[in-house]
Amino acid sequence: MEKQQKSSHLVLVMLPFQGHMTPMLQLASILHSKGFSITIVHPELNSPNPSNHPEFTFVSIPDKLTESQLSDKNVTGLVWSLNKTCAVPLRQCLEKILHSHHHIAALIYDTQMYCAQTIADDLGLPGITLRTSAATTLLLYPVFSQLDEEDFMSEIKSPELQALHLQRLRALLSQNPAKEMMEIRVELTNALKSSLAIIVNSMEFLELEALSKVKQYFPAPIITIGPLHKLAPAICSSLFTEEDKCISWLNKQAPKSVIYVSLGSMASIDRQELIEIAWGLSNSKQPFLWVVRPGMVRGSEWIESLPNGFEESVGERGCIVKWAPQTEVLAHAAVGGFWSHCGWNSTIESICEGVPMLCKPFFGDQHLNTSYICNVWKIGLELQNLERGNIERTIKRLMVDMEGNDIRKRAMDLKEKAAFCLVEEGSTSCSFNGLTKHISSASA
Ligand code: UDX
Repeated sequence: MEKQQKSSHLVLVMLPFQGHMTPMLQLASILHSKGFSITIVHPELNSPNPSNHPEFTFVSIPDKLTESQLSDKNVTGLVWSLNKTCAVPLRQCLEKILHSHHHIAALIYDTQMYCAQTIADDLGLPGITLRTSAATTLLLYPVFSQLDEEDFMSEIKSPELQALHLQRLRALLSQNPAKEMMEIRVELTNALKSSLAIIVNSMEFLELEALSKVKQYFPAPIITIGPLHKLAPAICSSLFTEEDKCISWLNKQAPKSVIYVSLGSMASIDRQELIEIAWGLSNSKQPFLWVVRPGMVRGSEWIESLPNGFEESVGERGCIVKWAPQTEVLAHAAVGGFWSHCGWNSTIESICEGVPMLCKPFFGDQHLNTSYICNVWKIGLELQNLERGNIERTIKRLMVDMEGNDIRKRAMDLKEKAAFCLVEEGSTSCSFNGLTKHISSASA
């Protein structure tokens, strides 16, 4: 990939959630390696640790979130509030940078920090948005929601879009009557339509038909630059402490025998679900590495509500940690399956290592990603419910039964295709070269 000749300054605006901060920092790192200097503006919530990234300048802006907003687990409400409370401080921060004679070549913002685009327009700055989820979500939230039923059905005629069951997903979204969601849809759509480019942490071949549909809706180029974690593997962005002890445990397990279980950084379960998962894992007889985030089990600190007899029944066959070095875990030879909530980062990370998936989505785009995994790419199975017998059977189907063979083969095929995106002539390398030229010409 080409290196930027003239040193230019980029300002990146972060949405303060793990699954959004990581790809934004990865993008920052790649652009920095191409000669751009980087300022990262972030709300106070979940502030990144500047000492992990001495090459960037960090500016914190007050988010004025109240205790009740912070304790509200409704992500939609938090996104809405952040866009309200951060808009003025973000504008002031950018004006300050511009007044100190710092040229800003472009403002790159998380798609869900859409307030940044209006400010970019007002200040005459090129605004570029980073979508950290599948490109297909660009249809679901801002566009398809505005079509009536007949129009909608005619829009999803392609096999890929039909296999995604978008009508079910749309119905799910429409059940959320919050005025916040309605406002987000309108503002996000407007921002996407005004942006100079839409960057997506995805790969062309994963969402081919959906991407061509997305391109019909937005004037800006859609630039797929995934998998970002492969281009910036050294970035340290975890909000939690990784427990490396799980790697030495993995070293003792047979190749492809372990099911790795992680529900990401936000999903939560109740105590009964924890108990069902525990017995399902135990009865499957497969070795397992299970991430239980502190606070993930509602009403519990950590794993104190695990059932009596569970630890004895599992012994050395199970390893439970609070947070794992996930990309390293997925790349480990002992890992043969990934039970995931199907956040987009986890999905991409699993694809890149050829690990087949067991899907239990919780909210938002996780349902869409599950449809891709199970119906379009066919590299995983959906777990229909969190009942111990069902968990045991589905783990065996994926890890042991003949059915798993085809799934594993397809997962390995996707891994190869993903690796090909990164070679010199691959789609991601070309996209990055296009992106840097785009930024340079917009700011010239
Ligand atoms: C959130 C939403 O839940 C998801 O639907 C959306 O696509 C992105 O934002 P999150 O729950 O954080 O995502 O999941 P995901 O996107 O998969 O990101 C989790 C990140 O945390 C991954 O990069 C993963 O590698 C990392 N992780 C997770 C760890 O490093 N260790 C762990 O133990 C678990």
